[in-house]
Amino acid sequence: MADPFQNVDAAGPEFIKLFADSMDQRQADPTMERIVAAYLGHLNVTDASTVVEVGAGAGAVTRRIASHCHPAKVIGFEPSKGFVSEANTRAKEYSNLTFKVADGAALPLEDDAVDAVIMHTVLTHVEDPKSLVAEAFRVLKPDGILIVCDADFSKATFSAFPNDPLDICAKEFVREFVTDPFIVAKLRSMISDAGLSVQHFDVQSRVVSTAEQMLPWVALTTKQMYERGDIGKELAEGLVAEHERRARNGSLYGYQVFATVVAAKAA
Ligand SMILES: C[S@@+](CC[C@H](N)C(=O)[O-])C[C@H]1O[C@@H](n2cnc3c(N)ncnc32)[C@H](O)[C@@H]1O
Repeated sequence: MADPFQNVDAAGPEFIKLFADSMDQRQADPTMERIVAAYLGHLNVTDASTVVEVGAGAGAVTRRIASHCHPAKVIGFEPSKGFVSEANTRAKEYSNLTFKVADGAALPLEDDAVDAVIMHTVLTHVEDPKSLVAEAFRVLKPDGILIVCDADFSKATFSAFPNDPLDICAKEFVREFVTDPFIVAKLRSMISDAGLSVQHFDVQSRVVSTAEQMLPWVALTTKQMYERGDIGKELAEGLVAEHERRARNGSLYGYQVFATVVAAKAA
């Protein structure tokens, strides 16, 4: 199956609601809060600035950007109409924020139009990440900033001991819901090759220990493995129960790595 984030609308309304909520929860997580706060600290916005998020989803990060940059204008571009509809519903009180349906490789913006472009867990989900970076370069003003924050899904794990059976869910999530799990290793050269100068590269660990945050990883993967006939109902239910048991007793260890690249277009 192709990564559903490549075409979210085709994945259906249930998927859109589930991940809109899941991305809101992820954004509220203290580690993610710190990661986003750190990269927003690299922005140098004035009231007249325009900042865009590409691949804004349901706006979890875009709302945060809008609060940080207020009263500067913030636009969230997102190819999924379903996510844009969720994003509009969730951002009613943000006067400086709008969302538009658009692919990150073809933004409805003039050349040299914006002060900053942010992509948060987007490039790992696209077939041609270079086209999104090239488009960011095109729309950035001279001196403009590109910020890319992405997960290194190649390192994602649930393992708490050797051959931990729960880790099957992490591996399956990466296989079914991610396009390039190794994107982080390629980011700096890809961004430099597009003509931007990399100013900052940082990698942070994130450990998830609540059932809600990792539930899509376990609920969706076990459902798919069961529906494909790879595993029986007993094992599917057992993995979900084990995930819940660990969350309850404080032993759940969902490990993720997030990298941030900050790059500038020459003045
Ligand atoms: C994991 S979500 C992240 C959403 C949001 N940035 C956040 O962190 O809450 C990945 C997003 O990338 C979007 N996406 C996929 N292909 C894209 C493309 N070609 N251009 C722009 N966004 C794309 C998806 O529709 C989805 O909203």
